[in-house]
Amino acid sequence: MPARRGGYGAAMRVLVTGGAGFIGSHVADLLAAQGHQLVVLDALLPQAHGADVPGWTAEHEFVRGDVRDPQVLQRLLPGVDAVCHQAAMVGHGVDPFDAPDFTTHNDLGTAVLLAEMHRAGIGRLVLAGSMVVYGEGRYDCAEHGVVRPGPRTQRDVDAGVFEPRCPRCGRELTSGLVPEDAPLDPRSTYAATKLAQEHLASAWARQTGGSVWSLRYHNVYGARMPFGTPYAGVASIFRSSLERGEAPRVMEDGRQRRDFVHVSDVAAANLAALTTPVDGFAAANVCSGEPHTVGDLASELARAMGGPAPEVVGGARPGDVRHVVADPAFARERLGFAARTSFADGVAAFATDPLRSPIG
Ligand SMILES: NC(=O)c1ccc[n+]([C@@H]2O[C@H](COP(=O)([O-])OP(=O)(O)OC[C@H]3O[C@@H](n4cnc5c(N)ncnc54)[C@H](O)[C@@H]3O)[C@@H](O)[C@H]2O)c1
Ligand SMILES: [Zn+2]
Repeated sequence: MPARRGGYGAAMRVLVTGGAGFIGSHVADLLAAQGHQLVVLDALLPQAHGADVPGWTAEHEFVRGDVRDPQVLQRLLPGVDAVCHQAAMVGHGVDPFDAPDFTTHNDLGTAVLLAEMHRAGIGRLVLAGSMVVYGEGRYDCAEHGVVRPGPRTQRDVDAGVFEPRCPRCGRELTSGLVPEDAPLDPRSTYAATKLAQEHLASAWARQTGGSVWSLRYHNVYGARMPFGTPYAGVASIFRSSLERGEAPRVMEDGRQRRDFVHVSDVAAANLAALTTPVDGFAAANVCSGEPHTVGDLASELARAMGGPAPEVVGGARPGDVRHVVADPAFARERLGFAARTSFADGVAAFATDPLRSPIG
């Protein structure tokens, strides 16, 4: 007997918000390829898009509209089994004047979506969370165990002292893997709004009996990343420099560690979360489990593109953190998710992957 439509493990109809964007578009393609129905809702924010609907979106049922608009949602939600909420304003979040925009798109948007899901009787949400909720990664002091270094001072950064030190004894620290129950310490407006999305979704799950996976993506890269904007991820910034024939400029000393996860793996994690029941709210790191330095990324990409070697320029932007390396264990256990694209393969492909057209 075929499984009930919309049940876990059955064909679903999914609303993918932000589905014209970098990550959402890969989620949409994967859902369609797996035989699910979907509808893409995207406002095509001018910060993220040119004038036209991207070609990859035109292949799906697409509605240009805003998640903050209850009427649009009331039209789209009936018949939907689950919502995959990727829409957000992304960026560094260091300009105080941007705070109202981040808050309205990310938090008001999530709140309106949750209320309308409740109205439509939909109880299943996958949220695009972010590693930025952690702030700094996890550190151990030889004497004091796990400690939480505060933001680095401008003086240290200017002097080339990039490693955070033990807040109690000033010793150098060793960095470890960040688990989902690490203390949360958002350090930018963007990060604060990503954490508020989780809090809103968690409250909603308690109020409604709904279930929510927040997938805390680490540094996502791959085809369709936005091209050459200050808001793009570091992989796309390096690629843009290399395409201009310039050396990629690496901040700090290049030894800051991150987890670079390929967008195809992030799409797979979304599919896993959409098809895995959870009681209430749960957050899971979505990462490759293969940490690398930002300098490694620049060198590997420069090699793949036959460009000049990276230039290490020092400095750090306000809010930049030193090492954030994710623990992949929980996603593996609970979602059966493990990334499949190696750093070497992903970066080699990224040398020629089509990126999103420049902002109009
Ligand atoms: N790229 C990363 O490395 C990364 C890391 C962690 C988390 N995330 C999260 O993943 C999600 C997708 O990010 P992305 O990198 O694909 O960015 P993106 O800018 O390519 O995609 C976001 C999409 O959301 C749309 N959007 C924004 N506000 C909207 C609104 N109010 N109504 C409807 N659509 C709206 C934009 O037009 C855009 O197409 C975001 O929630 C982001 O916070 C991304
Ligand atoms: Zn100490």
